[in-house]
Amino acid sequence: MSLLLLAFLDAERPVSGPAVPTYARNVAHILNRSCVPCHRPGESGPFSLTSYQEAKKWSSMIALTTKKRSMPPWSAVAGHGDFVGARVLTAAEIGVLDAWHKAGAKPGNLATAPPSPKFTQGWQLGEPDMVLTMPEDVDIPAEGQDQLRNIVIPSGLLEDKTVGALEFRPGNAKVVHHALVFLDNSQAARKLDAADPGVGYLSFGGPGFMPSGSLGGWAPGGTTKWLPDGVGRYFQKGSDVVLQVHYHPTGKPEKDQSKIGIYFSRKPVTQLVGGISVENWQIDIPAGDADYLRTASYTLPKDLTVLSVTPHMHLLGKEMRARAILPDGTRRPLVWVKPWNFRWQETYVLREPMKLPAGTRLELESWHDNSAKNPTNPFNPPQRVTYGEGSNDEMSLCILEVTTNRIEDLLYTINDNGQQNRVLERILSLAKRKKE
Ligand code: HEC
Repeated sequence: MSLLLLAFLDAERPVSGPAVPTYARNVAHILNRSCVPCHRPGESGPFSLTSYQEAKKWSSMIALTTKKRSMPPWSAVAGHGDFVGARVLTAAEIGVLDAWHKAGAKPGNLATAPPSPKFTQGWQLGEPDMVLTMPEDVDIPAEGQDQLRNIVIPSGLLEDKTVGALEFRPGNAKVVHHALVFLDNSQAARKLDAADPGVGYLSFGGPGFMPSGSLGGWAPGGTTKWLPDGVGRYFQKGSDVVLQVHYHPTGKPEKDQSKIGIYFSRKPVTQLVGGISVENWQIDIPAGDADYLRTASYTLPKDLTVLSVTPHMHLLGKEMRARAILPDGTRRPLVWVKPWNFRWQETYVLREPMKLPAGTRLELESWHDNSAKNPTNPFNPPQRVTYGEGSNDEMSLCILEVTTNRIEDLLYTINDNGQQNRVLERILSLAKRKKE
């Protein structure tokens, strides 16, 4: 930059000295967009960031957590997939927050600060067609490990339907980290519930039974959206709905009674949502191994369109990467999660559904850290850990939600390793029954 230009820029600065970032001019809009959806009264963030006073009080932590990229929570590496509702700050924004804090977290002219955003009260998509509420309060103890609790709610659905949107409303947003909504038409979840003394039953990986379908997932700050026109989730009459909620203790005993709103498809459905899993069951991680690599792959037998990807590991998870390799060799990134954060599991919804031709190979790589350096290692000293759905076992799994134009295309697919693709198979048999 020429000296002349520098001099000119300087002249633009206030007479009092170099321009310092202020809340009103530089910071409020970043917080409003990227933090306030969770950091406001009644939401999951442990404090509010809706005013200058609150932001100033937290300025050093704001600078620290954004620099570390632990806030806003989002584990997908930029440039590997483009997702709806991605929670990411640019390097420039992180720089602004840091400079603001270092310069004393100045207010600027608060009269000109952008106001806190308005959020829709109540159901985001209007009154649902069906509301299901947990039958009783779940007690979350003050301390201890996070838990996945599965609450079984009979739907009472009298005829088969397709679902276009789902909204999850936490009863107590402070303790609910994320939720998945499964369907069960085999009464298996009811049996698990009956065998567990608490409300619902505990699990760690999957819901502990083979779901007959899924209505989707929810994480804090997420916005509820309709599936594309013509795409629906199959909801079989008489199914039970199983809410799998990830609860996080807050230091105080808490209660939660969450509910879901179900919206039936408004337009005729020509494509059902199904699931494909790419998974490696052969997991045996030696104690102390900080970089345990597993791979898995699955070749698509038919043309499919991918809607979302949900990586899944447990407490030793470190990193997971999935990609599609098209028959012509083109590589398309699906998702890369690094570092894996067990507490912020996410269903990553692709901004543009990805069409993949038959013969495309889905490849999965995962890394686990079973060393003493991993702060979430459940064992101290580390122990050998093997495959399983328990909290001290591990998994290496990525679930993709897919659609096809021809329901029968989803039938009879076999995983590369000869194992039947369990989730897919179940959804397909339902889809087939529907057609008959
Ligand atoms: C998706 C919801 C969500 C968003 C968006 C979010 N936070 Fe948080 N934040 C939380 C939750 C929940 C916690 C409590 C700790 C946890 O559960 O990880 C938290 C904790 C914090 C903490 C306390 C330190 C810590 O790590 O526990 C700070 C500081 C913070 N957030 C700052 C921010 C800032 C700054 C932004 C925006 C740039 C932001 N958060 C965006 C949900 C969110």
